[in-house]
Amino acid sequence: MSVYSTKSFEVQNHSVHARLRHIVMDNKSLQDFFNEVGHIDVEKIEYVPFIRFYLADQLRKKAGEGFQEQIREILHDRDTGGLTIGVQGQTNNHDDYIKFSTALTHLIGCPNFDAMSKKFYARFSVKHEFDSDTYLRKAYRTFYLHTDGTFVNEQTDWVLMMKFEERNAIGGESLLLHLDDWEDLDKFRSNPLASQVYEFSQKGRASKNVDEVVYSTTFFEKNNSPCIRFNDQCSVPKTIEQAIYHKEISESFERTEKKVAISLPVGDLILVNNNFWLHGRDAFEENEGLYRELMRQRGCFAPN
Ligand SMILES: [Fe+2]
Repeated sequence: MSVYSTKSFEVQNHSVHARLRHIVMDNKSLQDFFNEVGHIDVEKIEYVPFIRFYLADQLRKKAGEGFQEQIREILHDRDTGGLTIGVQGQTNNHDDYIKFSTALTHLIGCPNFDAMSKKFYARFSVKHEFDSDTYLRKAYRTFYLHTDGTFVNEQTDWVLMMKFEERNAIGGESLLLHLDDWEDLDKFRSNPLASQVYEFSQKGRASKNVDEVVYSTTFFEKNNSPCIRFNDQCSVPKTIEQAIYHKEISESFERTEKKVAISLPVGDLILVNNNFWLHGRDAFEENEGLYRELMRQRGCFAPN
């Protein structure tokens, strides 16, 4: 069902998750965007930050009036805070995928430096054989619900994930939970441990390239609403009580039937407000030919 439309794009309710929106663009607008930015190579986007905003400006021009405002409104709206959108088969070129997602993120804010890739975005693959020190690349394990940026001091207001490629993948859906749908929110928020400062870090995990330590409470307020900082792999409790509190939160996330599995087609992306959405990934079914490549960007909202 359409909730907003112009001649060049339409905002629909997402077919699987009631809180998400799905944006359908006019194919001609997409083609015009890819043609307009076709001469820009990815190296230039990586080396010259203002080119990233130029991409955003071009997408805004091609998609027409209201596009940027709609994207921002959805991301900031507590009741939704998330959307899916894709290239609609107009291209299958990975450089175009980078341009499209970069244009979108620069319509809402600015991506943070990704220490794993040493760029403003990171591409990573999941396959049958892996050599990893986190669950990010371990295909046959559930990647538990978490927020991104828990172990860096930079504000991480949003996270974008785009699917670049997929072969022989059964399972592995994105798992999503909006904080307001979680039955145990009040129970854990009212616990005295909710206001204790915890240590969050990835120290010693080579793949992350981050030695930063963050001290923060598990819950915090933004716009008078509860938000969460949580990642089971980055929480470094100092007492049995602190450890049990986070263990129980994690178990509650795994138990809740309010989390929703979303399958993302190749060329589509999901963009969610990281302050009140948790995300994870279901385990894949074992297959020697399994291959999936995703790209992520995460960052902060523009000040206005
Ligand atoms: Fe994540």
